[in-house]
Amino acid sequence: MSPPKTFHVKSFGCQMNVYDGERMAELMAAQGLTQADAVDADVVVLNTCHIRERATEKVYSDIGRLRKDQRKKSGKTPMIAVAGCVAQAEGEEIFTRAKVDIVVGPQAYHNLPDLVAKAAAGTPSLDTDMPLLSKFGALPARRKVAPSAFLTVQEGCDKFCTYCVVPYTRGAEISRPFAAIVDEAKALVDAGAREITLLGQNVNAWSENANTPEGRGLHDLIRDLDRIPGLARIRYTTSHPNDMTQGLIDAHRDIESLMPFLHLPVQAGSDRVLKAMNRSHTRDSYLRLLDRVREVRPDIALSGDFIVGFPGETDAEFEDTLSLVDAVGYAQAYSFKYSPRPGTPAASIVEQVPESVMDERLQRLQAALNRDQHAFNAATVGRTCTVLLERTGKLPGQLIGKSPWLQSVHLLGNHAIGDLVEVTLAAAGPNSLTGIERIAEAA
Ligand code: SAH
Ligand code: SF4
Ligand code: F3S
Repeated sequence: MSPPKTFHVKSFGCQMNVYDGERMAELMAAQGLTQADAVDADVVVLNTCHIRERATEKVYSDIGRLRKDQRKKSGKTPMIAVAGCVAQAEGEEIFTRAKVDIVVGPQAYHNLPDLVAKAAAGTPSLDTDMPLLSKFGALPARRKVAPSAFLTVQEGCDKFCTYCVVPYTRGAEISRPFAAIVDEAKALVDAGAREITLLGQNVNAWSENANTPEGRGLHDLIRDLDRIPGLARIRYTTSHPNDMTQGLIDAHRDIESLMPFLHLPVQAGSDRVLKAMNRSHTRDSYLRLLDRVREVRPDIALSGDFIVGFPGETDAEFEDTLSLVDAVGYAQAYSFKYSPRPGTPAASIVEQVPESVMDERLQRLQAALNRDQHAFNAATVGRTCTVLLERTGKLPGQLIGKSPWLQSVHLLGNHAIGDLVEVTLAAAGPNSLTGIERIAEAA
């Protein structure tokens, strides 16, 4: 194989994978490779997700399709790198069965240039190490980025919820150093970001020198980022209820650039199920926590994740999830059918819930969540707020961006992507709102 000249990175799964995908693209670009479509690229990185069912099968079929498409188009055989969480969990098997050129885990992708060079020289390799020294120091500088950018500050998970693969695929909780994060945030702003979303599997577990007098938590970091000129908005995700400190709650009152949005997964509404999930919070402690957040920031938009059909979940326990949803009134949420993941404790519980029951529960839950999302959007009509423009819409002159509450807002106007526009929210649909620019309104 001759050294590749073009690359393509395809990311699946969570926002952290999107961030990792961007960093891998930057690594390739720093080696002089240029970006191309999957069907043309000399090296294709599949940045995979292992969170729910059929993840591994999907990787095999993606590899097959990629090879077929390139063969048909140009007779070429691409170099294929499987990265991300499936690489970490099932890498050895994919390496031998699909004969890919590279398997690289989420903590080892800074080695990608070396692995590509080796593969080009005829030696395929697998690197799923979780080195002590973090990969971040070995990554190149940030290039041009979108107005809303991601920044990983914390990675890994020590919580071991009984259904979840993340502690195995991402490793133990680590926090990136304060100074490195501030430097990267400044570089992102220089590269065009107006909003930064701080990422972590448990982002609010971020800390530095914990348990010492100089110890700092996520709110201290946000306070420093707030001082970066040109950075208009800060968000963070995903938080764990047990790491929601008073300092972070207060930050929602005190720091204007911290957006009024909190994604705080609860997963289920029954204490028995929560215990079996090893969530280490209760229904009540979660609800009380949200009360404290709403006390300091009454307009905060709440978001959550839910799993229906955890092994052994009864009808009555599922009703507890519905009543929790009613009690909270989420602005938006994600809900999933439970999926047994290889190697996790819940996968070996005998009483798995039948698929048809899970389907029905998911439908009912999603109907309730959609109802609440629509109600939240409708309740914001009439408010004035800023919208950060992220892309153009389908109609001529239409622009689409996000409100502080992470709603999609479309508007007509003469603006550039990246502009922050003052609008009045004029009408609400289930998934987006119409904004009217305030200057246009006054004219
Ligand atoms: N760290 C975050 C999110 C992790 S994964 C948290 O603790 O909440 C994102 C979501 O995927 C989870 O919140 C959960 O709702 C869902 N999920 C994880 N494992 C799952 C599984 N085995 N089956 C179905 N959904 C799952
Ligand atoms: Fe998975 Fe639980 Fe960790 Fe979230 S807190 S990543 S759901 S183990
Ligand atoms: Fe998926 Fe890994 Fe993210 S399993 S959800 S890509 S942490």
